[in-house]
Amino acid sequence: MVKIMYVGFGIVSQGLAEIILEAHSILPTLKKTEIQTVAILDTMKGSKMDANGINMQEILANAQKGDYSLLTENILDVPKAIQEVQADIIIEASFTDIKTGQPAISHIEAALHSGKHVVTTNKGPFAVAYEEIFKLAKERNKTVAIEGTVISGTPIINVLNTGLLGAQITAVSGIMNGTSNYILTEMESGMSYEKALSQAQELGYAEADPTSDVEGLDTLAKVLILGNVVFNTQLLQEEIEVNGISKITLADIKEATSNNMRYKLIGQVWKDSQGKVQGAVRPKLVPMEDSLYGISGATNALKITSSILGDTTIIGAGAGKTETGFALYNDIISIVNG
Ligand SMILES: NC(=O)c1ccc[n+]([C@@H]2O[C@H](COP(=O)([O-])OP(=O)(O)OC[C@H]3O[C@@H](n4cnc5c(N)ncnc54)[C@H](OP(=O)(O)O)[C@@H]3O)[C@@H](O)[C@H]2O)c1
Repeated sequence: MVKIMYVGFGIVSQGLAEIILEAHSILPTLKKTEIQTVAILDTMKGSKMDANGINMQEILANAQKGDYSLLTENILDVPKAIQEVQADIIIEASFTDIKTGQPAISHIEAALHSGKHVVTTNKGPFAVAYEEIFKLAKERNKTVAIEGTVISGTPIINVLNTGLLGAQITAVSGIMNGTSNYILTEMESGMSYEKALSQAQELGYAEADPTSDVEGLDTLAKVLILGNVVFNTQLLQEEIEVNGISKITLADIKEATSNNMRYKLIGQVWKDSQGKVQGAVRPKLVPMEDSLYGISGATNALKITSSILGDTTIIGAGAGKTETGFALYNDIISIVNG
């Protein structure tokens, strides 16, 4: 049996909980491991702890109606609770802050210090403290799994860490924000920036405050993570040029189209001719022959350039309840399989 605890019980955690429930709480691991939820900690919705296992069917049925009344405990010192609960793995899916990485860094540290593995979709901690977190995990002999931090359940981190080992990667570039790509795609059919943005909000792609999406900060966090995963380098946020899409006009889009090009918000990390690792986030004109040209709507894609394979492009969902919940599920299975 593997015991898990949720820290943050929003969209993504509920996506994972639904996947687990549909699989009858049995992980498809080598030994068909049973999975039991022993705690839910959420500062807004409420918390619940039960060492004998929480009835997740009941919790999820209520959550679908927006009812969290079964989360009766009010836990404010979340790191302390993380330390005290007897669990094998914490699911860190709380709030993202890419400037400080908090509160998630303190959640992850509390988990590692108390002997728990961590699976997370939270970009914040890895945009600012990637090295420190993985160093601590190594010292504690625990796993920190972060597949969902870059384009949700579409496999990227695991592909970079295993499937492309030895390929001599020189650059990774791609479309890593669905909201921006959706807006740019709609603008190609003549819709204004403002209308496309409000449509993206109605469809649930964009946050109520879309600044992080359209000004490139969400993509920046992913670029910082990729710098670590691919090149083992912590890039500094303030040294990376970041430009979003909010200044692109319909006239710019029209001109691009007439030249058989498309604007895409591209996040990049690469090694320059001196071997220095660089990062950038900016709208770029992408020509028709580029594999990123045809990526439309909220879809994401990453092009990995390596000396041995040339370009390898991975395309898929970059957000969503089930899609991001799946990244967590996959990481849990990997931990249980050792
Ligand atoms: N949704 C996606 O498609 C997606 C994709 C990739 C990555 N992610 C990342 O995954 C994480 C979860 O996303 P989500 O969409 O599930 O967000 P969400 O629906 O807002 O859920 C997060 C929950 O965590 C709670 N929370 C905030 N601070 C907390 C703390 N200190 N301790 C415990 N709970 C806390 C939030 O309460 P409050 O509302 O009071 O803050 C909220 O209920 C985020 O870091 C996000 O960036 C999401």
